[in-house]
Amino acid sequence: MGDYLEVAIDIARESGAMLAEMFRTPLEISYKRPSDLVTEADRRSEALIIERLHKHFPTHAVVSEEGGGQKIESAYRWYVDPLDGTTNFAHGFPVFCVSLGLAYRGDVIVGVVYDPTRKELFTAEKGAGAFLNGRQIHVSKTATVAESLLATGFPPFDQNHDLNAQLFFRLTLMSHGIRRPGSAALDLGSVAAGRFDAFWELKLNPWDKAAGSLLISEAGGRVTDLAGGPMDLGVSEIFASNGQIHDEMIPVFAEVLSQRSRA
Ligand code: IPD
Ligand code: CA
Ligand code: CA
Repeated sequence: MGDYLEVAIDIARESGAMLAEMFRTPLEISYKRPSDLVTEADRRSEALIIERLHKHFPTHAVVSEEGGGQKIESAYRWYVDPLDGTTNFAHGFPVFCVSLGLAYRGDVIVGVVYDPTRKELFTAEKGAGAFLNGRQIHVSKTATVAESLLATGFPPFDQNHDLNAQLFFRLTLMSHGIRRPGSAALDLGSVAAGRFDAFWELKLNPWDKAAGSLLISEAGGRVTDLAGGPMDLGVSEIFASNGQIHDEMIPVFAEVLSQRSRA
């Protein structure tokens, strides 16, 4: 697996450096849907990553957010978010990253998340631990929601129907607070590094969470759906925590999300 990880690290660093460079210059923004932005930086980062992956692993499938992937049958599939945090990027808020996850028969085996602003590189290989800039990281030991710092995110579409606004309200009152930094992959890295005690989101895509979910499990955390069942890349929700506060949060999710079936 060493080769996969090393190549992913090189690509994430290269595309991250390009994003950092582009961050300093004004960019044209276009809209996929209202509030769902895409920039030249998303497209150029994606083109670079796909070209590099194809060169190293021509038989691997690649699924990438802006649609430029390599749609072939393969047991190996890369999930690429060439710029996670586009809204931040477009507004000049320096919280964004590149996220690369490699799955083998649906199981994530390599994850790399690179934040070029802070020069923080999160890496994980299945069974070999999670690391931040080469130092092993672990989830926090926080035992209760009351003592926790949480994070979440909201999709850039379908905002009217997102019950997460209610969860945000509830859990804000129960905890030390909730952050909404705007990059799901980095949020997952922050749970893996013990900065946040938990992160959840209702409508993510596989490229947002493939790498980050491996960071969590390799850092000793727990990653599931919002009901505590197994996390599935094909299912949009994710709940990642330090493991300790997981069971305390599930009933809160259940109560608010029960409105989903009634709607
Ligand atoms: C978004 C970010 C954000 C999350 C959204 C994602 P993008 O990804 O990860 O934090 O809340 O759901 O769509 O569009 O910036 O790659
Ligand atoms: Ca994303
Ligand atoms: Ca993106």
